[in-house]
Amino acid sequence: MRIFLDTANIEEIKKGLKLGVVSGVTTNPTLVAKEGISDYKSVVQQICALLPEGDVSAEITAEGPAEMLKQAREIAKWAPNVVVKIPATAEGLEIISKLSKEGVRFNMTLCFSVNQALLGALAGAAFVSPFVGRLDDAGHDGMMLINDIVSIYKEYGFETQVIAASIRHPLHCTQAAQTGAGIATVPYKVLMQMMQHPLTDSGIARFMADWKSVQK
Ligand code: G3P
Repeated sequence: MRIFLDTANIEEIKKGLKLGVVSGVTTNPTLVAKEGISDYKSVVQQICALLPEGDVSAEITAEGPAEMLKQAREIAKWAPNVVVKIPATAEGLEIISKLSKEGVRFNMTLCFSVNQALLGALAGAAFVSPFVGRLDDAGHDGMMLINDIVSIYKEYGFETQVIAASIRHPLHCTQAAQTGAGIATVPYKVLMQMMQHPLTDSGIARFMADWKSVQK
């Protein structure tokens, strides 16, 4: 199981990397807008340099097949460890099929069904990102989708890696691990929540109080 950070905030990435458990970063146009970033390329290159052994997803923003293909080729050149994030559409699929044969690694994003994940794997996507939280928000069971995709990939021996995305809380991370999803991409806040437990905090307080009581 690997943990990616779902953010375009450099400070959060630096803080997350210090913990030694983050092996990738995913960004998207909303996360980039949230940080007020205008030079996406330079920020992605900065992130790629922060974790040269990790996988850093940068999303296509061009519209129309020709422009998307062009931008996919450009993003793929930004850094050796960049992964081109592309939506799960027929246009996206065509680009994944074409460029993955040339060695471009894709993260097929906005995945909301097993069929999309199946086609993404057949096209040669390196990663597929089913959105758990957004499915939950719509009244579906997002984790069930992760479970189904993981089972089907295993059954047919697909090498495409599943990134549990749109993670909203620590329980999503636990459940993603239980399904066998290889990766969860989490907001920085959720990463910190994963390590928190009130009994750990009260346990430390008690240990320290007892320790100090005999030091006087
Ligand atoms: O990785 C995709 C993720 O950023 C979407 O999360 O919370 O906007 O549904 P959210």
